[in-house]
Amino acid sequence: MRRKYIISLDQGTTSTRAIVFDASGVCLAQSARKHEQIYPQPGFVSHNPKEIFFNSVEVIKKAVWDAGIQFDEVAVLGITNQRETIVFWDKVTGEPACDAIVWQCRRSADICKQIILDGYEEEVRQRTGLLPDPYFSASKIKWTFENVPEVRRLHDQNRLLVGTIDSYLVWKLTKGKNHVTDYTNASRTMLFHIHDMKWDEKLLQYFGIPREILPDLVSSSGICGYVDREFFGEVIPIGGVAGDQHAALFGQACFQIGDIKNTYGTGCFILANTGSVAASPQRGLLTTLAWSINGETVYALEGSIFSAGASIEWLMNELKLISGIGEIEFILSSTPDSNGVYFVPAFSGLSAPHWDMFARGSIFGMSFSTQKEHIVRAVCDSIAYQSADIINYMKDSADMDIAKIKVDGGVTRNNHIMQFTSDVLRIPVERSAFSETTALGAAYLAGMAVGFYDMEQVKKLNPPDRVFVPELDQDTVIEKYKNWMKAVDRSKNWLL
Ligand code: G3P
Repeated sequence: MRRKYIISLDQGTTSTRAIVFDASGVCLAQSARKHEQIYPQPGFVSHNPKEIFFNSVEVIKKAVWDAGIQFDEVAVLGITNQRETIVFWDKVTGEPACDAIVWQCRRSADICKQIILDGYEEEVRQRTGLLPDPYFSASKIKWTFENVPEVRRLHDQNRLLVGTIDSYLVWKLTKGKNHVTDYTNASRTMLFHIHDMKWDEKLLQYFGIPREILPDLVSSSGICGYVDREFFGEVIPIGGVAGDQHAALFGQACFQIGDIKNTYGTGCFILANTGSVAASPQRGLLTTLAWSINGETVYALEGSIFSAGASIEWLMNELKLISGIGEIEFILSSTPDSNGVYFVPAFSGLSAPHWDMFARGSIFGMSFSTQKEHIVRAVCDSIAYQSADIINYMKDSADMDIAKIKVDGGVTRNNHIMQFTSDVLRIPVERSAFSETTALGAAYLAGMAVGFYDMEQVKKLNPPDRVFVPELDQDTVIEKYKNWMKAVDRSKNWLL
């Protein structure tokens, strides 16, 4: 068999990564490129879609080169992506109408406030599993229609297309042949009815969004288009598309009801498989799709955390308190606690389970004895506390029995953060041996589409490399967690 490799393209919030896998899920090579984070105003976050597409093509070429293979040996491409971020482009020229509005962007907060004032919150929750927050795509699209004349002009000329990042990448790679999105990405727009499994006419009308500008819906695994020969000299099928958190859930083989994972990227996203029945919407948590393959849909309950890796980047790039990731390991091993300092990373509001779009980042408990190491420690501790907020909430409100959690993503390489997470969560934390589980999941979804594996085989492909178990005594944890909750409470409603 000449075509025996899979390329996985993981288009994330801060970078784009391509990984070449062989048919048994072993990584041969990977390549990544960062893209610009555009902050036009406080609270606004944008990306340049052209830069993202350019980087996507470049990282694929580089990964294939580094793997020492040829494009005619590639069987299939899988795509996974930052979710909710929305792109507007001209179907005639392929040019973006404006910068993409990123999931972290808060510009549509007033539109979301209006949803609540209109008494529409419960209806939104029942139909989409989501809650009114600028995080999701719908209010971003409405804001753009109201504020970007170029978008309205293109729409009036019947030239406008809109989609999440997966949709834009597939359209570009297929040279405009396929305007599609998979069900998991659709489930993050607030325009998709998660029970009827179609775009929701009532919500489209409420937000004033015409159906014809949105993509068609496709399975998370299955061929949904072909990469044009222009890009890599070969026609390559696109066999898997899924939002990054859904791909990671798949990559962690969370196939049983109750299986749960936490992926650490820019944010942290905890997803629990709830089987073929959507969990009834819980205050504070999201009901979302795990994946939908050949008409079989699996649902998940999600706790989203907006800032995890992003807080560490902030320490490094904005505060310049540390020079590199390596320094964190050193600081944590020589700084046993935060000396009473608590950091709430509500840079773009608080996400699950608090959902306060008007909260902002705060530091509490500093005294003259506070050193920079304590602040670094408090930032790292906040990643564990936020996960605990969600796990505790899932246990109490959704009545879930959580015996352990699987983890993946860059931050999980830090043993101290993983140990403290297990200490605070009071459950074992099982770390994936291969940390790029998101890309792995997209490779599995694509590989299944060309008959490389089935789900039974996927279960055996990515074993854990280490399990962290609670070590810190319970009384200390209770005391620390109480202080954390006090800090969270005080950071709420800052902008009001
Ligand atoms: O919902 C946002 C999420 O998909 C972003 O993921 O990995 O880019 O932080 P990441």
